[in-house]
Amino acid sequence: MKENDKPVKVITYGTFDLLHEGHLRLLRRAKALGDHLIVGVTSDQFDANRGKLNVRDSLMVRISKVQATGLADEIIIEDYDGQKVNDIQQYGAAIFAIGSDWEGKFDYLADYCRVVYLERTAGVSSTQLRAETLGITRLGIAGTGSIADRFVAEALRVSGLELEAVAGSDPQQARTFAERNGIPRACADYGDLLATVDAVYLCGPNEQHFEQAKQALESGVHVLCEKPFTLSAEESCYLYALAEERGLVLLEAIKTAYCPGFIRLVALARSGVIGRIQCVDATFTKLALPGAPELAPPYGGSVTELASYPLLAISKILDCAPDTVSFDSFGLDEGVDGFTRISFRYPSAIASATVAIGAKSEGHLNISGTGGSIYVPAPWWKTTDVLVRFEDPSRNQELRFPYAGDGLRYEIAEFVSMIRDGRGASYKLRAKDSAFIAGIIGRFRGSGGRFDVVPGSVTVPLAAAG
Ligand code: CTP
Repeated sequence: MKENDKPVKVITYGTFDLLHEGHLRLLRRAKALGDHLIVGVTSDQFDANRGKLNVRDSLMVRISKVQATGLADEIIIEDYDGQKVNDIQQYGAAIFAIGSDWEGKFDYLADYCRVVYLERTAGVSSTQLRAETLGITRLGIAGTGSIADRFVAEALRVSGLELEAVAGSDPQQARTFAERNGIPRACADYGDLLATVDAVYLCGPNEQHFEQAKQALESGVHVLCEKPFTLSAEESCYLYALAEERGLVLLEAIKTAYCPGFIRLVALARSGVIGRIQCVDATFTKLALPGAPELAPPYGGSVTELASYPLLAISKILDCAPDTVSFDSFGLDEGVDGFTRISFRYPSAIASATVAIGAKSEGHLNISGTGGSIYVPAPWWKTTDVLVRFEDPSRNQELRFPYAGDGLRYEIAEFVSMIRDGRGASYKLRAKDSAFIAGIIGRFRGSGGRFDVVPGSVTVPLAAAG
């Protein structure tokens, strides 16, 4: 085995989730190719970044299982694309070995060492084991609008989920939707849908969310509900209490809350890196086309449709109750608010959420602190670029985060893993965030209708706000 008396090093890589016979056979054969086996195990972050969601074992568990095989002489962590090129050189590997499912994909490594594809063991995979050991969540979709199509495309990326049925207000539309998306059943009514699923995604009209979520929870069905989740803090709290009482998962589908960049942004802002936070300004605008449901009173309008995003950022970043909120709006002829700025006063900060369906504005997020600022350029709600700025520019940082596909896969993966693990709450979007968001939307809707064609302004003390 030895070349010039130097041990022949072999290197291989994998996630090695739920370590199985296929992994063991691969490691044995890789080891037999040389004298010293180096195993690269993917980090959780790396897997998440390349869209491999729902890996069951944590990095530490996966490493200890590989170690327990007694086959690895050295274990390293694979954390970025292209790392193999560096590792092979750094560790002096003479052979790169990998299963034949990767045939041809790593030929480029032949510039650095010998590349060997080992025949994959038939009939076993981590994907299959995850499905067998964790069970499948059968999901129903209530709603057939464009977000439902986007949801289906993203749900296919998440393991442990099966799209079972769809229901909508128009049965013909539901049938067409089911056919288009390969969903086995279209249900004539929502009750039928609930009878045959474990979980439901609610993406119908805003005003139906509360009643549909309540009915689902009362029927023992987990709920993932589109924003706006409910139209008052009371409704929101009622549903969370009901879910807790029934031991069910209830989650609001604001995709931003679950995407990797936003989670890191919030942690960064809360870490004190820019000092004490004094101001948060977040903007989200989306021009509505004539006749769009967003323009239809009484459940359309900028705040009801769009405010969930900036309010989420304010709730997570300031994480305490505001003293006052005021609304400044321009109404549209349709009778809904077309442009609204929601302004908050907190004990030691201020914040604003600017939303519009009748005007356009740059969709960015700016956080001002006593020692620096954090700026997220449009579209901040996808949070790919985060700029941390200081008076001394040599301290400035530019961070970049992945945002895979349409981004909905992150919220779907969180929902499925909560169901699977029996986890009733998510730190990514807490019941108190949902209640805050619904409370502010409810306040606006109840504040005397600032939907006149002339601008209106009203300040509401929030002492009793949820
Ligand atoms: N492997 C194998 N035979 C199997 C499964 C995996 O030889 N039945 C090999 C892969 O080709 C790779 C290594 O084991 O070289 C690690 O693969 P990994 O992706 O972690 O395992 P999978 O079971 O393929 O995982 P998944 O189903 O999540 O893709």
